[in-house]
Amino acid sequence: MTLTLAIHSSKGGTGKTSIAVNLAVAFAASGKNTCLIDLDLRGPSLCSMFKPRSHFWINDFLSGKCSIKDTLTDIRDEVGTKAHLYLSFSNPEIGEIRDLVSKDRDWQAGALKALMNGKKELAERGLDVIIFDTSPGVEYESINAVAASDMVIIVHNDTSACTSCTEQLITGVYSLLDKKCAIIDNMYHGNCLDLIDKERYGVPILATIPCMCEIATRSKEEVLVHTDPDHMFSKSIVSIKDKIEIM
Ligand SMILES: Nc1ncnc2c1ncn2[C@@H]1O[C@H](COP(=O)(O)OP(=O)(O)OP(=O)(O)O)[C@@H](O)[C@H]1O
Ligand SMILES: [Mg+2]
Repeated sequence: MTLTLAIHSSKGGTGKTSIAVNLAVAFAASGKNTCLIDLDLRGPSLCSMFKPRSHFWINDFLSGKCSIKDTLTDIRDEVGTKAHLYLSFSNPEIGEIRDLVSKDRDWQAGALKALMNGKKELAERGLDVIIFDTSPGVEYESINAVAASDMVIIVHNDTSACTSCTEQLITGVYSLLDKKCAIIDNMYHGNCLDLIDKERYGVPILATIPCMCEIATRSKEEVLVHTDPDHMFSKSIVSIKDKIEIM
């Protein structure tokens, strides 16, 4: 069965994309055919890390202009993973991002339907894991990604604003949509060894990853799980993958 994860957060900049990309590489390295889809249509990131070779963007698929397979770029050979690692890129053109504002409910409803069909097609093509990288908060596209997922991975940091919004998302969105959830505490500033929390708001905490300046200062194209598997961040990601697999 194909597992679909939405990597989401209440606030921006919590580390969703870093975690989504590294998790996708970790799954593919462990032999799972994986597809990472950039559904952060308002702030595309994947195209600044990898070069698309496909002729279409995920935006085209959501608008009904192509099939999901037309949007895929396989980076297995580049990254050297055991299984396929497909990427589906969001269009970074400013005009495309601006046009999102004018997309109405009908477009968003069509996009959700497309996403559900795309998920089915990817499952039929033998994908084991699909990961949606999302926009923060409750934009339509993020809620569509959550709705189309089997499980939401909430990337959280310990600012009070993030904490209160995360609680609202859990009770007001994920629970209403009946989604399985788990939290990753990222950019933690305290001493991880002191931590005893295993859950928050009734949701399991998969990992607490410290704030490490060198993560932010390393090259944007670098995927630590691939280039530096002994790094603490990479080890956390692999342990998160292992935990997700048995949830
Ligand atoms: N544990 C960490 N310690 C320090 N820096 C981190 C950590 N995790 C991620 N970062 C850095 O934080 C910045 C934001 O990360 P990222 O782009 O993954 O967040 P995001 O949630 O996807 O942001 P957005 O909401 O804008 O899409 C990046 O520069 C990244 O390298
Ligand atoms: Mg991001």
